[in-house]
Amino acid sequence: MANAVNRIGMLTSGGDSQGMNAAVYAVARYALGKGIEVFLIQDGYQGLIDGDIRAVVAKDLDAMIHRGGTIIGTSRCPEMRTPEGRQKAHANLVKYGIDGLVVIGGDGSFQGAKLLTTEFGVLTMGIPGTIDNDLAYTDYTLGFDSAVNVCINAIKNLRDTMTPNDRTCIVEVMGRNCGDMALYAGIASGAEIILVPEVEWTVDQVVAKLKSNHDAGKVDNIIVISEGAGSARQLLADINERMDINIRDMVLGHLQRGGDASLFDRMLGLRMGQCAVDCLLEGKTSRVVGIQKNKIIDLDMIEALAQIDVLDKDLYDFANQLVKF
Ligand code: ADP
Ligand code: F6P
Repeated sequence: MANAVNRIGMLTSGGDSQGMNAAVYAVARYALGKGIEVFLIQDGYQGLIDGDIRAVVAKDLDAMIHRGGTIIGTSRCPEMRTPEGRQKAHANLVKYGIDGLVVIGGDGSFQGAKLLTTEFGVLTMGIPGTIDNDLAYTDYTLGFDSAVNVCINAIKNLRDTMTPNDRTCIVEVMGRNCGDMALYAGIASGAEIILVPEVEWTVDQVVAKLKSNHDAGKVDNIIVISEGAGSARQLLADINERMDINIRDMVLGHLQRGGDASLFDRMLGLRMGQCAVDCLLEGKTSRVVGIQKNKIIDLDMIEALAQIDVLDKDLYDFANQLVKF
């Protein structure tokens, strides 16, 4: 049976994440092996609109799997949200003869892909690349594991210097409106307090916990706060107003998106890339790739995006059941 596509283009979009390169690498090498031509689109939708597109060459792929970030660049591209922008994007797909598009990014990036399918009939596949782990349909997104590992190492280093100084430290982690990064980094590094956007909390509760820990002889607390739950700087000020405490704050910020992809993210990127190519070759479109119970799956983009992401409440409760004083 003939393949449904002959030329695959791919782009990475939105916030970069570790593992994106593994996915790009897999899509390129796997598709080339199937006799498909592969095109790299630079800087996300911006490159698609501007025509910054080139056929992949072997040199692009050599060390790609070892590199952090995304070597084909990314962007937040407001023009893609407009019909005119999408028309330019489609014109460039036609110009390069690209009949299948792989978009690696988060839910916003998938919205752009969905519109290219509904408005122009482009065959599109989405691969979830974001450190936030905020897509309900997949157990993990590409980059989450690596980014959490960065947090864990940072918290370990902070603990090394906080403990001998009898200091408490508030560590703010990314994740937008999703608390997974804070929850996983917090529980895996033994943080005393974990604050996530999905669970209401008050400064008074935090202060009460710090005081009870103090009374039990513990003064070197780690508080992990998700950016969606509040800011470390504000919490520091609020705590200082209410109690006398030796406390510092640290925003990990973009550090979390840097560094090598973990084995998990490399394997996830590779397996998801393979699935995206297989789907396109079969003529599937407007679908997203994910992982559920360690099986790579693909499902309808609209169905996937309609799912509401919720915090793993059992894990959150477990984190709070661990006695830490
Ligand atoms: P993420 O993909 O990580 O969720 P964004 O929400 O910033 O990140 O989206 C990335 C890009 O996807 C945007 O800059 C824009 O180019 C495109 N995009 C997002 N939402 C839409 C939309 N509703 N329609 C068309 N394109 C969109
Ligand atoms: O979506 C990934 C993410 O890193 C979020 O965790 C964070 O809120 C945001 O992107 C930061 O965006 P930018 O890189 O544009 O500052």
